[in-house]
Amino acid sequence: MTRAPAAVLAGTGPFGAALARRLALSGIAVTIGSREAARARAAAAQLDAPGLDLAGASNRTAAARAGAVFLAAPFAGQAALLETLGAELDGKLVICCAVIWPPGSRPETSAAEEAARALHSAGAGRVRVAAAFQTVAARVLAHDGTPGADDPDVLVFADRPEDREAAAEVCGLTGLRTVPAGPLRGARAAEAFVGALMHLNRIGARHAGIRLTGLRS
Ligand SMILES: NC(=O)c1ccc[n+]([C@@H]2O[C@H](COP(=O)([O-])OP(=O)(O)OC[C@H]3O[C@@H](n4cnc5c(N)ncnc54)[C@H](OP(=O)(O)O)[C@@H]3O)[C@@H](O)[C@H]2O)c1
Repeated sequence: MTRAPAAVLAGTGPFGAALARRLALSGIAVTIGSREAARARAAAAQLDAPGLDLAGASNRTAAARAGAVFLAAPFAGQAALLETLGAELDGKLVICCAVIWPPGSRPETSAAEEAARALHSAGAGRVRVAAAFQTVAARVLAHDGTPGADDPDVLVFADRPEDREAAAEVCGLTGLRTVPAGPLRGARAAEAFVGALMHLNRIGARHAGIRLTGLRS
């Protein structure tokens, strides 16, 4: 699974583009998706470098091409996007990176749980949904330094342990440490931290994130 092609839907923004590039640097094929294929192609061309397999396409084509699909649309547009992609995403591993805006405004759910609901309504009954990267700033992914002790962890949530492990493996291609951290509803806790992290970044942190201690290596 890990070497399968990946897609980043709505990957033309700062977060999705940085994620797509980091995934491509690991050697896998990555397609950036957009509502406008030309915009995705331009984003891919801007990030391209020798040896990278990066392309741009419509969200639908990107979803159809990939084994693992990251969702990087703003939460407000997520449901409408997923409604149209049930056939392309059924049976796939879909990793939601979105945060409900403003952070903490809907503590009874999370963007990933809402993505799972939208995909089931769209007929994708066999989709495997995970949440990851909610607490990782785009600029961490955009930065090329050697991964180190100051990097945040990627907290990964999914209901089935095998989906959690598979999602953690794909997310780990970015070079960041990934932590399979429990069922999908755990994404609510990750989202709840985002407001505090943004506050710290606003008042001068380099890139505030979450790094767990005491894990077995
Ligand atoms: N920025 C961060 O540091 C960060 C960190 C962790 C998680 N996240 C999450 O990652 C996601 C992307 O963040 P971002 O800052 O890159 O977002 P963004 O720039 O606001 O949006 C990303 C892309 O989403 C597409 N889009 C915008 N509105 C849409 C709609 N109504 N329906 C479908 N697509 C739409 C646009 O692409 P096209 O116009 O090309 O379709 C846009 O370039 C968000 O859900 C955010 O919560 C962000």
